[in-house]
Amino acid sequence: MTQDELKQAVGQAALKYITPGSIVGVGTGSTVNHFITALGSMKDDIEAAVSSSEASTARLRELGIPVLDLNDVDELDVYVDGADEINEQMEMIKGGGAALTREKIVAAVAKRFICIVDESKLVPVLGKFPLPVEVIPMARNYVARELAKLGGRPIWRGGVVTDNGNHILDVHDLSIEQAKQLETQINGIVGVVTVGLFAHRGANVALIGTAKGVETREI
Ligand code: A5P
Repeated sequence: MTQDELKQAVGQAALKYITPGSIVGVGTGSTVNHFITALGSMKDDIEAAVSSSEASTARLRELGIPVLDLNDVDELDVYVDGADEINEQMEMIKGGGAALTREKIVAAVAKRFICIVDESKLVPVLGKFPLPVEVIPMARNYVARELAKLGGRPIWRGGVVTDNGNHILDVHDLSIEQAKQLETQINGIVGVVTVGLFAHRGANVALIGTAKGVETREI
């Protein structure tokens, strides 16, 4: 199976976590795009979606799925999203698509985070994928110097402006053994909007696409 077929399989498998009549939290990225397509088949069974990016909102609306403002929603049953890396503890690196801030906000509101990934995303230690950090533009160089003190090699993702009007630094050369601790440390740097470590709020369910089928992990 190709990587895209594995992504399609987990996107389809996530449908079983959708409660009829509910409002669904929807992430961003190529794997989630398959989930959104699959969700189209349930559009008359769900109330609406809350989206984590302008790109996902456009796709949801194209399929006729209403998209609500998060401020009008008190609680979400599930949030379905991909990841750039996930470890055995269900901690993740996210933000390869620059949507990390809204993803973290929508995930915070959801009771369960359903992570959909192909097997290439499963890693023993997070950090081979450069860690995205969204920063206020005027703080970019200051935050980069602070991130370098933590042992990383930050590189500005030039030309990218997030849906929130901010910049992204990708931090290379990290080997993240203590993900929760590092998430707290980076959150504490002035000028950081969001770090793409999802450790304090990790996944509750991981659907992993493998050549043998979709493997489910739950904690
Ligand atoms: C978007 O900002 C990211 O967090 C995505 O969820 C992550 O990059 C996974 O994307 P793919 O499904 O495209 O690999």
